Amino acid sequence: MITWGCQMNVYDSGRMADVLAPLGYAPTGTPDDADMIILNTCHIRDKATEKVFSELGRLRQIKEARAEAGHRTILAVAGCVAQAEGAEILARAPYVDIVLGPQTYHRLPEMVARASRAAGAVIETDFPVEDKFDHLPEASAPQGLTAFLTIQEGCDKFCSFCVVPYTRGAESSRPEAAVLSEAHRLVAQGTREITLLGQNVNAWHGLDGTGKPSTLGRLARALARIEGLDRIRYTTSHPRDMDDDLIAAHAEEPALMPFLHLPVQSGSNRILAAMNRRHTAEDYLRLVDRLRAARPDMALSSDFIVGHPGETEADFQDTLTLIRTVGFTGAFSFKYSPRPGTAAAGAPNQIDEDTKDRRLQELQSLLRDQQAAFNESKVGQTVDVLFTHPGRRDGQIGGRTPWLQPVHVPGPQSLIGQIMPVRIAHAQPASLSGTLPESPDDPIAATLELEIAVA
Ligand code: SAH
Ligand code: SF4
Ligand code: F3S
Repeated sequence: MITWGCQMNVYDSGRMADVLAPLGYAPTGTPDDADMIILNTCHIRDKATEKVFSELGRLRQIKEARAEAGHRTILAVAGCVAQAEGAEILARAPYVDIVLGPQTYHRLPEMVARASRAAGAVIETDFPVEDKFDHLPEASAPQGLTAFLTIQEGCDKFCSFCVVPYTRGAESSRPEAAVLSEAHRLVAQGTREITLLGQNVNAWHGLDGTGKPSTLGRLARALARIEGLDRIRYTTSHPRDMDDDLIAAHAEEPALMPFLHLPVQSGSNRILAAMNRRHTAEDYLRLVDRLRAARPDMALSSDFIVGHPGETEADFQDTLTLIRTVGFTGAFSFKYSPRPGTAAAGAPNQIDEDTKDRRLQELQSLLRDQQAAFNESKVGQTVDVLFTHPGRRDGQIGGRTPWLQPVHVPGPQSLIGQIMPVRIAHAQPASLSGTLPESPDDPIAATLELEIAVA
């Protein structure tokens, strides 16, 4: 399985592995000895899509070499490119056996059976009437200390630039009971941090126990009651769907982490309107104020697009101004990429590549400075770290702060799985290092020992 794109694809790849496990398939690291290869693809920008076709060219050679040695290889294209391109994939890559859209993964075993029997390829890109979540197996392979849990799919917002409403379909939410039972199962398997996923995760309105649509604020509070679930995150949020109760939950529930990915895309009201975002720069700034009033240590990250059709130098400057006003701790930023079938693709005033390049560099340099300043601000502070893995160097362990910053400290592997306070000693541009307060490497502990020795 080769996975590109957003975290929802990462989650989906796990679920495809779950659905294939009863058939005897297990994940393997190398395509050369795989009986089946699944590409889980992303259609969001042109580059992402082209990567799929170049990878298919490479996999074709592997498939042919295996055929010569007498082995069959089933080659499947899943994800958003499969949904968007459908039969076009077979026209460009006739050696593909299965093309399956994101809403059809529960039908994968049947498709594999059909592909094994038939000479022709199998295409499944309908949005089936049955919900895939109702038909995916309950049992899932453990995800580890941190886990993804998809609670919402699809999007009804139709931003001018975006393919998601076409590749993932209309907005839909999983019921509260299904989400809670999956969360309980994850925690029983050792998970301590769950990231709830959705293309518009805060538009979640799954049915509660009484059959009424609930809200993400209520779901977060219910999840916070699960013993052993210490950290809850959710992504990606749309500014329009941040309601008062969800903001209040950030003030009241310590398990809700003080870090929010809240894409704004642009700081120009003209461009935000052209993008069909249905919020202004001022709306966004007010929202940030409300979030910080509820949770003063709230850190924010965002997505930005430069060079949307019609973006003038003044519009771009408005984006830089918004970035300076908010102060982001991280961000993803992209050059606008025209996507087939979207409203902006056919707009007349497209921006040339050189201008997009220049704006992207300027914007990224500002965002890098902000990220570095945020990391620097933690030096000297003691912050909680959930340790999840051995460090790069021997005797080190690594984990993340509440604000998702990677941290490395000298420490025993036995602490992996625990949340420990760490005194931050150094900040690198994208990560932190420090010491466990009681460790002899800690400068203050060392001074204390020295003082005791002198006394
Ligand atoms: N649902 C999320 C984002 C999903 S797509 C939201 O509403 O914010 C992830 C990011 O990809 C978007 O936030 C946007 O910044 C970027 N993106 C989407 N379409 C794009 C395009 N055509 N060109 C460049 N970037 C794009
Ligand atoms: Fe795409 Fe806009 Fe929907 Fe986000 S809200 S997924 S950017 S259409
Ligand atoms: Fe890409 Fe589809 Fe996610 S287009 S960003 S994989 S929803």
